Amino acid sequence: MIPTPHIEAKEGDFAKTVLMPGDPLRAQFIAENFLENAVLVNDVRGIKGYTGYYKGKRVSVMASGMGQPSIGIYSYELFNFYGVESIIRVGTCGGYDKDLHVRDLIVAMAACTDGKYVEQYGLNGTFSPIADYSLLEKAVALCREKGVRFKVGNILSSDIFYAENDRSADWAKMGVLGVEMESAALYCNALRAGKKALCICTVSDSYVHKEEKTTAKEREKTLIDMIEIALEIAE
Ligand code: HPA
Repeated sequence: MIPTPHIEAKEGDFAKTVLMPGDPLRAQFIAENFLENAVLVNDVRGIKGYTGYYKGKRVSVMASGMGQPSIGIYSYELFNFYGVESIIRVGTCGGYDKDLHVRDLIVAMAACTDGKYVEQYGLNGTFSPIADYSLLEKAVALCREKGVRFKVGNILSSDIFYAENDRSADWAKMGVLGVEMESAALYCNALRAGKKALCICTVSDSYVHKEEKTTAKEREKTLIDMIEIALEIAE
């Protein structure tokens, strides 16, 4: 089923590992600044996908768009039709944990959700979408090596950005570190396909430390650390 309804790339156009930021312009930024000989392999709906080389290793980068339905489509097609083995999401999140500050990294061991994506599997219990351990272990080792501030743990993949009621404190009480909008669906698709996924997030804003702000330059530095970690662990 290639090309798929949402990806125009040809068979073999994607590497075994795809880095997946939410924003197409960030995918372009990664391709232009970190990959050698990057070729544009998808531009359907402006969801830019590139394949190139990082330190001699063939790697792809493609945007996911925002939310579980969007990453659900792209990661499903990459895993099931394009032979992709690993997807590493490189995103931003809101911080729920009091010890996390803007620009810190979260390596998402698991992803809770307030959405319905998980329900499609008809399991008679509450499924826990979890990351691939081998990718997680390598990401943690690199975070330590780089000396970045990071935490490993649970996150929330929420379907609602502008929520009527702020439930961040309730999730924080359960040890949930932060909120984004994609990882639970990504982890489900990887697990269902027998493939690998990991989400690394930069804290872009905090629900606890609301006064914290960053300059574009400061944010860029953290994004670079996150992108380098993802590229280094790509298999
Ligand atoms: N909510 C959801 N996704 C996000 C947030 C947030 O507060 N910050 C960055 N991504």
